[in-house]
Amino acid sequence: MNRVKKITCIGAGYVGGPTMSVIAQKNPHVEVTVVDMNQTRIAAWNNDDLSQLPIYEPGLDAVVQEARGRNLFFSTDVDKAIQEADMIFISVNTPTKTYGKGKGQAADLKFIELCARQIAAVASTDKIVVEKSTLPVRTAEALKSILDNTGNGVNFHILSNPEFLAEGTAVADLHNPDRVLIGGENAAAIEALVQVYEAWVPRERIITTNLWSSELSKLVANAFLAQRVSSINSISELCEVTGANVDDVSRAIGQDSRIGSKFLKASVGFGGSCFQKDILNLVYIARSYNLYEVANYWEQVILLNDHQKTRFAEKIIKTMYNTVNGKDIAFLGWAFKKDTNDTRESAAIHVADHLLDEEAHVIVYDPKVTAEQVYRDLDYLGTRSPEDNRRLVNVVNDPYEALDNAHAVAVLTEWDEFKTYDWAKVKAGMKRPSFVFDGRKLLDRQQLEALGFDYYAIGE
Ligand code: NAD
Ligand code: UDX
Repeated sequence: MNRVKKITCIGAGYVGGPTMSVIAQKNPHVEVTVVDMNQTRIAAWNNDDLSQLPIYEPGLDAVVQEARGRNLFFSTDVDKAIQEADMIFISVNTPTKTYGKGKGQAADLKFIELCARQIAAVASTDKIVVEKSTLPVRTAEALKSILDNTGNGVNFHILSNPEFLAEGTAVADLHNPDRVLIGGENAAAIEALVQVYEAWVPRERIITTNLWSSELSKLVANAFLAQRVSSINSISELCEVTGANVDDVSRAIGQDSRIGSKFLKASVGFGGSCFQKDILNLVYIARSYNLYEVANYWEQVILLNDHQKTRFAEKIIKTMYNTVNGKDIAFLGWAFKKDTNDTRESAAIHVADHLLDEEAHVIVYDPKVTAEQVYRDLDYLGTRSPEDNRRLVNVVNDPYEALDNAHAVAVLTEWDEFKTYDWAKVKAGMKRPSFVFDGRKLLDRQQLEALGFDYYAIGE
């Protein structure tokens, strides 16, 4: 098979945008077009002001600046981009189903199927179709069936190439991946994709497998990572009642090279668009094969995570004399982790929801999340009316405005800037006693206690 000359990616989101930007940066002779049906998103990708890109990722602006207009293009003309490409990545969203069979667990594949049908309808030359989205194992079979039943004589080869980047470090992860995984059946098609990555990834880090191993490995990688967070979070609760410190436990066990030190940071609970969705999907698949023990085992990772978020909210209520009604609670952070503006499944949403049920007044400050997004997240839950969400929640652009006169501070995201605040000034402006609930173990206990705060952290 010839070297790939034109790549199209359907889906200009958190994965499609950064991934294709780096592929274009590293393959200046390959023309890369990222298409999306969301016009606003594409317009933002084309914005001359790089601070207005639709996604905030450290270092992304420089990559886009280097490649955009040279061999990287963002467009809403999906048909044209499909027609012209040799290789088409599908990088659309695959959220948890909110209706019908598998509701609340299975992945919703309607966007994937729409892409396949559109490719089938438009393509007039042979294509390599690459699954970049995270998909249930054996989705390639369905894709192939849709593509092969067009009857127009076009040959399609399907590859699975799951993405392992983490948000907040997407560009660094793409520049220096631990591995690239490519699953497929056709050796030439696999080689064509290997060549794209070989432009910057050492060959020994490019793993090739069959389609089903590749699809399943992505779900399993996320399940294992999330499982570590839930494991250490379960221990954080035990630490709180026994006098052990969860950071000490993490360090002590993480030094064992068989265990390793990463993903052992206790927190208010994991969030993000992937962990929960992908584990639910794994659970659903296991159940659909009647593997109940397997399904229950992985489901526990989610249940523990839900427990951790609830536990944090209840700790706040209990410590504040069992009532937060009318009390001002400043939220530092709303994103699901630092260095991203993404709030999907953020623990902050669930903690806020719990406190709002108790009629707390929550004032949110996050360096990258807009007020519209905060209200959208709360309204989406449907727990209370949009009017009540706006009555009970304020979103501010200045952290000191959130903290001034507050009864308590809750740290929900581990943004570095929170550590640098003038905590003496914060203390002077807050109500007494001045509570800090640190869901990220970010702040300095000694410093805060010396200033007179009542400081509570997960797992201590
Ligand atoms: P996203 O919601 O940010 O982006 C998906 C984009 O696809 C949207 O802009 C949407 O408008 C577009 N789209 C949907 N259907 C379309 C269609 N038929 N035609 C044109 N455009 C269409 O999603 P994301 O976070 O980029 O995730 C994409 C996939 O990658 C998911 O399967 C996800 O599980 C997986 N993934 C995500 C991450 C992550 O960190 N976000 C990491 C690894 C893998
Ligand atoms: C994850 C995977 O890491 C990535 O490989 C995959 O492609 C997509 O899903 P992401 O969700 O972007 O990436 O971020 P990640 O760094 O994994 O964090 C997920 C959540 O776990 C965050 O809420 C984070 O704060 C939390 N976390 C992570 C912890 O609470 N403790 C840890 O030790 C690590």
